[in-house]
Amino acid sequence: MPCKSMLIFTKIAELKGFLKQIKSAGHTVGFVPTMGALHNGHISLISISKKASNITVCSIFVNPTQFNDKADLKRYPRTPEKDAAFLEKAGCDVLFMPSVEEIYPTEKKETYDFGYLNTVLEGKYRPGHFNGVAQVVKRLFEIVEPDKAFFGSKDYQQVMIIKALVKQMHSTIEIVNCPILREEDGLAMSSRNMLLSEEERHIAALIPKIMEVAKQLALIKGVDEAKHFVNKEVERFEDMKLEYFEICDVDLHEISKIDPSVKAIALIAVFVGKIRLIDNLALN
Ligand code: PAJ
Repeated sequence: MPCKSMLIFTKIAELKGFLKQIKSAGHTVGFVPTMGALHNGHISLISISKKASNITVCSIFVNPTQFNDKADLKRYPRTPEKDAAFLEKAGCDVLFMPSVEEIYPTEKKETYDFGYLNTVLEGKYRPGHFNGVAQVVKRLFEIVEPDKAFFGSKDYQQVMIIKALVKQMHSTIEIVNCPILREEDGLAMSSRNMLLSEEERHIAALIPKIMEVAKQLALIKGVDEAKHFVNKEVERFEDMKLEYFEICDVDLHEISKIDPSVKAIALIAVFVGKIRLIDNLALN
């Protein structure tokens, strides 16, 4: 193991210099990009990277260009000291925490064409979001130049976008899709969960339960029954507002019937109070 304790970099040139040495010594690099406010879901990606790579680099950067809602950016939780301690304990080798000026010295204007993928679900409801994700991930990939990069399937559509980005970049970085980590009550771990009030947190715990019933309904009674159920359940709570609940094939095309031989996935975006949460569940 080349690093004894975690190294922290804020400057691109310094990180690149260090990684050049690491790579010339023949070590492989795994990369976990994050926006901080770390939880065990993020740490699970670090653990997977550690098993698959000699050196694990984690980045923490709250990327302004991917927030289509500026209030969401303003309230996004920031806990850098706690995050650094958490990563050190998890055995992360390198933490990269750049400033906004370091990542975007000039205004970022490049746009990406992700075609259909950018027109549905998160792409539809968060215009510009994936363009911002692509801007920052491309920049981070060019800085770190990892062998493998690790992403959570909680952001199912994001993983597809990153895979498309890597193709467009003609890059050889392997994108590893990692499972969703959940709280004991089933709620998918998310940095945004810490913004929920106690009451909202109780309500949020219903999301995975609603998804589970919807899954059974979809399999037994059909997609329409499942959608009807989710709409009715969410309507029961004043503090919950459904943005979408869709059942799709793995390429995110909506399906109206479950065919046991075709993989299907249910995806949801729901507001609990002001906080927007997403989740997904494989149906077969
Ligand atoms: P962030 O929301 O911090 O998530 C960083 C990584 O952790 C993503 O790959 C995300 O899918 C994964 N993750 C989040 N919650 C998880 C959970 N409960 N279980 C497993 N993995 C989980 O996603 C982003 O940041 C940003 O868009 C980023 C890719 C860093 C670009 O700015």
